[in-house]
Amino acid sequence: MQNAEFDAQNQTDPQCYTNITEFWSRNPNNEIYLRDLPSVIPGSKEYFEIILAARRKYIYYFSSMSEWLKESPSKKLLEIGCGMGTDALVFAQKDFSVTGIDLSPVHIDFAERLFKLYSLPGKFMEGNAENVQFKNSSFGCVYSFGVLHHTPNTARAINEIYRVLVPTGRAVIMLYHKNSLNNFVHWITRRGFENVVNTEDAPITQRFTKKDVRSMCSQFRVCNIRTEYLYGVGYKFIYDYTPRILFNILSKIIGWHLVIYLKK
Ligand SMILES: C[S@@+](CC[C@H](N)C(=O)[O-])C[C@H]1O[C@@H](n2cnc3c(N)ncnc32)[C@H](O)[C@@H]1O
Repeated sequence: MQNAEFDAQNQTDPQCYTNITEFWSRNPNNEIYLRDLPSVIPGSKEYFEIILAARRKYIYYFSSMSEWLKESPSKKLLEIGCGMGTDALVFAQKDFSVTGIDLSPVHIDFAERLFKLYSLPGKFMEGNAENVQFKNSSFGCVYSFGVLHHTPNTARAINEIYRVLVPTGRAVIMLYHKNSLNNFVHWITRRGFENVVNTEDAPITQRFTKKDVRSMCSQFRVCNIRTEYLYGVGYKFIYDYTPRILFNILSKIIGWHLVIYLKK
């Protein structure tokens, strides 16, 4: 089922996808974790180890996402917007059979290199979330983390997830939360969302409410939304000095990540 409200809200100019691709190819995701380590060589084992450790620290709820996906009808997983393959690697280590697509060829190269370094099987290829190149019912589970708010037609991409899942298949999607502390801070400071290392910002960064998400995911039988991640590495020392109990409570209310657990 298409969702006209959200599709109408967005434009689909082909140049838009070129801009998105080029932005992410110039600004590989996760390099914020290396901003104080300029001598680390991109694509080296050290580079990936630093990124993997940082993600274990900041994406503290990864295990609840993987537990949800583990109960899928099969562990054949499609990651949409796989970036440099860091989460795909953890899924592969947990015995998922991983295919990753991303608009950026630079990210795909990184993901292939990462899997080679860790001697794990995984398939990576360029692809667009809004027009996924696989047939209906091709995957037992789909994962997409921090991607679909960077594409113009988020609702169309969610329809694609529904389409490629087998019946009772499961998905996890992370989208940015509109009613969050981080969105408020960025509004006050007028800072972009994805420009911490360089000065340019991502061409598109949408933010959604839980109501928006329920509307875009209405075709799924189950749609549970949790709010996580009050803030992360961008807040530097504030992150480490925030009492964990306060961080956890506020994350559940005004966290930056809407983590969406879906079942077809
Ligand atoms: C913030 S990064 C997240 C990457 C990865 N999921 C992670 O957590 O490290 C956003 C990614 O989404 C990809 N992307 C944006 N729009 C896309 C689309 N329409 N189809 C496929 N990938 C897309 C970008 O190329 C980029 O790699």
